[in-house]
Formats: sequence, structure tokens, C-alpha cells
Amino acid sequence: MRNLLIVLAFLSSALFAVAQSQPQLNLMPMPANVQPGTGQLPITQSFSVAVTGSHDASLDSEVQRFVAQLSRQTGIPFRPKSGAAPTLQIHADHGRQAVQKLGEDESYELTIADSGANLTAPTSLGILRGLQTFLQLVEIAPTGFAAPAVTIKDQPRFPWRGTLIDVSRHFIPIDVLKRNLDGMAAVKLNVLHWHLSDDQGFRVESKVFPKLTGMGSDGMFYTQGEIRDVIAYAHDRGIRVIPEFDIPGHSRSWFLGYPDLSSGSGPYTLEGGGIDPIIDATRESTYKFLEKFIAEMAKLFPDAYFHIGGDEVDGKQWDANPQIQTFIHAHGMKNNQDLQAYFNQRLQKILAKNHKTMVGWDEILHPDLPKTIIVQSWRGQQSLAAAAKQGYSGLLSFGYYLDLMWPAARHYAIDPMSDAAATLTPEEKRLVLGGESCQWAEWLTPENIDSHIWPRNAVVAERLWSPQQVTDVASMYTRMNAVSLDLEFLGLTHRSARMHMLHRMAGNADITPLRLLADVVEPVKDYNRWSDAKGPIDFHAPLTRMIDAVYPESDTARHFSDLVKTYVQSGYKDQAAEAQIRMWLASWRDNDARLHPLLDQTFLLQEDAPVSQDLSALGAAGLQALDYLDKAQPAPDSWKTQQLALIEQAKKPKADLLLMVVAPVQQLVEASAAQHN
Ligand code: ACM
Repeated sequence: MRNLLIVLAFLSSALFAVAQSQPQLNLMPMPANVQPGTGQLPITQSFSVAVTGSHDASLDSEVQRFVAQLSRQTGIPFRPKSGAAPTLQIHADHGRQAVQKLGEDESYELTIADSGANLTAPTSLGILRGLQTFLQLVEIAPTGFAAPAVTIKDQPRFPWRGTLIDVSRHFIPIDVLKRNLDGMAAVKLNVLHWHLSDDQGFRVESKVFPKLTGMGSDGMFYTQGEIRDVIAYAHDRGIRVIPEFDIPGHSRSWFLGYPDLSSGSGPYTLEGGGIDPIIDATRESTYKFLEKFIAEMAKLFPDAYFHIGGDEVDGKQWDANPQIQTFIHAHGMKNNQDLQAYFNQRLQKILAKNHKTMVGWDEILHPDLPKTIIVQSWRGQQSLAAAAKQGYSGLLSFGYYLDLMWPAARHYAIDPMSDAAATLTPEEKRLVLGGESCQWAEWLTPENIDSHIWPRNAVVAERLWSPQQVTDVASMYTRMNAVSLDLEFLGLTHRSARMHMLHRMAGNADITPLRLLADVVEPVKDYNRWSDAKGPIDFHAPLTRMIDAVYPESDTARHFSDLVKTYVQSGYKDQAAEAQIRMWLASWRDNDARLHPLLDQTFLLQEDAPVSQDLSALGAAGLQALDYLDKAQPAPDSWKTQQLALIEQAKKPKADLLLMVVAPVQQLVEASAAQHN
């Protein structure tokens, strides 16, 4: 087993060297302007910071956190020398707004020389951003830790750069949210979109309507004190908090305590069943309720924006309710969409009275709503462009759904200004405020949420912060992986959680062969896990399977595909690439024999046995293909047919897992049969 470990360690470093062809600064998001200098600033025990200019409490605590984080990253307990010149000089012209504003200046300039560094910004918010850049620049070097000499002038491309976290389907505790806020700040995201209510749970204490959580949750919700604590924590990190209460659809949890709000007769349970209940938008009592509720929540959440959801309003309850149909016809409305627009107009007026601007999903787009609202596009890029053409501000979330388990490169390729938005006039383009990644919580727990969000979220952050032309995918992966390591030093567990979960599955057996398998599989994509789940989801069931533990994207498979590409492009002559390919293939071929005893022993792993067998068969097939290629001897048709059959078998998801090395092995098999002697 030790030999296997050594081989794998060698392979990982060799593969990394392939990906890292260009020396570059491991920054993510990439700043707007980077001028490399010469030399480097050593980070030693005497590292110190001095602040001049505007000073506020939030800046002081940011500097303290920065020093603590630098100490964690480097392992150096700093002991500045009194009287010595500071290593890092910070100057902000102005402080920050007490409630962070959309579009508040986040720009900064950072100059690092071998003798010291300077960080200046118009506001202390820019200082926050610049300190995160500094942390990313510090790397280990032959002589110690150091930051390279550089001059950076940076500002965001978009003012609204968010992450939605759904806490309804699975409750996410405060400490987990806080470490994710730390991660967001590290990559310069500035909005937490907090999806606080949905069918499966209402998560905010209301003192006016206590049954919202009393009956509409499983007992897990945030007190108002906890909400204020999270908002203050986010503000310290330059992050606005936008609450979302999703209405009139996605609102079953409201009806357990307040059934009069619903359009049907109930009774309702959080577990659901039957048609999706929705709010009755025709009754005055609904608006009286919402007046009081929004007044309470508007005070609790200080941000100027307030999200009312508005997505996926299944109108079946409206169709089935004769009173609602009478109302629709009496008011000259054509359909349920018109009723939703009427509901949204009433809501918008309530929000305006509470000094809030309405944000909603793209279904709310309707010419009767004032142009001040913000439309969040999730169903496609065209809805963002359509909103802008009608004069509405918009946010892009389509393409940034982290729960779909896409590879980072796929998210990275989607730009708010591409597709339909590329044809907008400059004036219309200004209405595109940015975007948000979305982490819906049907299939995650506090244990694995970090690995669903990170490190891919850093890539969305770069798309929203960095210039549009920053698009190089190889560079993105190198930088994302560097930032991923930094994020664990912040307390995120996106890498370590997998290890804990594999250990749980394996009991106290050696997990090396299990990790080898975990390294080459990914969860099924899009909503395929939903369709495989027979019957309604039990949101209190354990999420402890291999699919829950593995990373959304396999680095090993991507590296292996690149190696095969290199080898094929060399006309099968690149011996170094072939040697590495052979080592991987052999390790996979031999892994099943090591893993099999373990798979049989634990109930959590039994379903993975066929995946392990497929991997083993792929390893053997790939090695045989290389043998044919080495001998320059075409592989026989019968062999090829047999191998392609097993490759087809290996392509099928099993245990909701996809084996990600099938395509490059298929490439080798086909190449070996296609050659001529
Ligand atoms: C949504 O994903 N239904 C906004």
C-alpha cells in the first residue's frame, strides 16, 4: 500500500506541473490591473501593519482578522518589533456606510516591494478587498514565506456579486454560515442572499407571527438575535445580507401555522404531498398579514433590498378555487400570471412603504411593476436581457447553480453580458448589476455544504469581479486550486469533510483505495438525483453515501484527460505522458481487488461495488490499448467491440455516481483499433 501511495503522490505532483505551464500569481478573482515587479517581500515574524487616514471599528477588526489569517496561513506567530517601519502601510480616505450600499466604492491599490507594501483605497471597504488580495499573494518560497513585488489597481466589474444559500430544505447553523461568509469575503463576493423560507421550513423567528417557525419549522430556525449577529458579521466582511421570503409559491411552511393564507383547504405538513399550496392573493386578510410581517422583517434586515421570490408559482390551487377565479374575472385579469402581477404590485407598495426595493425571480417581470425593482434571472440568459430591454435592473443566476454539480469551467464560461445580453445597448447593459451563485439545499447538510459551494464559487466570484476578457480555463483551474487551499485555512471544510465522510463509510479500515475511487467519480448532474430518488425526498434522512462525500468535480479525471490529449497529440510518441497514463491505469485496474473486501463490509459502500469494478475494467482496457499502440499493431475488431461494450456499461451512472475517466479510456481504445501498420 505504501508503494501505491508513493506512486500516487508522484503522479499528483507530475500532473500539477503539466497544468502549471505558466508561472502566475495565484489570485482569484484576478484583479483588473496587475503589473509584476521584481523581488519579493518576505513575511517574517516581525510582520506589522500600520493604518492611517480614516479609521473605523470595522477597519480595525478587519486588520486584526487579516493578521490572524496571515498567521494561520503561514504558521508564524507574529511579534512586531516596536519602532520598526510597518511591513504593510494602509490608508483609507473615507470610512464605510453603516449599512453597506449597492455600488459603494470597493476599489483599492496595492503596491508590494521588497522593502514593504502599501494599500490605499478611497474607502475602508476597498481596504477589505485589498487585504484579501494580499493574503492570496503570500506563498511559500525556498527562503520562507513571501509576497511577490507587484502593483495592483483593482475594482469590481459588477457591484452585485452574491451567493444564495437555501436554509429551508436543510437548516444551516450559524457557525457554518459564518465560515461561508469568510469564504465569500476571501473571493470578494459582497451579497449573501439568504433563502429563509420555502415549502419545507420557515427559518426566521417572527415575534408578530410566532407560529411561522412554531409550526412551520422542525424547531430549527434563527432567532432575531442570531439574524442580527450574522448581519453584523457579514457587514464586517463587506457583505450585504438580502433576505428572501419566497411567495406566493414555495410557501407551504407558512400555512401550518396560518392556514387562512393559503388558496386551498389543507391540512398541510412540511413533508408535503398533493399539489403545491400557494398564497391566496385575492384576500385582503393576506395583505394585512404581509403588511405586519414585512414591517417586522424590514426592521430586522437593514439592507435596502428585499427578495420576495415569486418563482415557480404552480397555479393549480388558484385554478381549483372558485372564489379566486371569480376575483380574476371581476378584475379584468386574463390568467394566473395577471393575478401574480397584481400580488406583486401590492407587495411592492408594502415594501416601498418600508423603504425597501423589491427583488424577485424572473417570473415577476411584468410591465405593471415600477422600474425600480430587480429581476433575478434563473431560467435563462434571455430573461436578463428581456428585463434590461424593458428598463429593469437584473442579476444573473442562470448558469451559476452550484447544486447542479457542473464543473467549474462550465460556470466560468457563462458571462452576464454574453448570449442575449451581448446585444444590449450600453445604457441597457448598465442595468445588469451582476449575479449570484445559488446553493439550493435539497441534497446537502452542514457537513458537506462547503464542498458543494467551494471552490467552484470562487470561479463565479471571478466572473463577477474580474474583467470580461479573463477567461483562460487552465489558468482558472490552477488559481482556483491554490485559493481552495487558502479557504481551508479560513475554516471551510470543503476538502476535509470528504475525508471524514470516507472514514465514516469505511469504519477503521484504510481508506486509500476508497479515496482512489472517490477521486475519479462525480455526483450525477442537474436534477438526475431527484429523478432517481423514488418518491418524495425525506429531508431528515442521513446524507452519508459516496455521492454525498465526493467533490462535484474530479481533478484527477480532468488531469488524466489532459494527459491522454497530450499523448494523442504527440502521435503516441510522448513517452513521459504514456508512463503517467500507465501508472494511473494500473492503479485503477488493481484498486478493485484492494477495495472489494471493504465494500462488502459496510452498508454505506455496498452500492459502490459495480463502480469499483467498472474502474478496474477501464484500467485494464486502457493498458491493453497502450500495448497495441506501443507495438504499432491495430487492435483486433473483436477486442475493440468487447472493450466498447464495457465502456458503454461504465458510462451508466451507478449509485448516482459518474465515472469520469471513461471518455479518455475510450479515446485510447479507439485509437488503438484505428491505427494502421
Ligand atoms: C428557482 O430556482 N426556482 C429560483
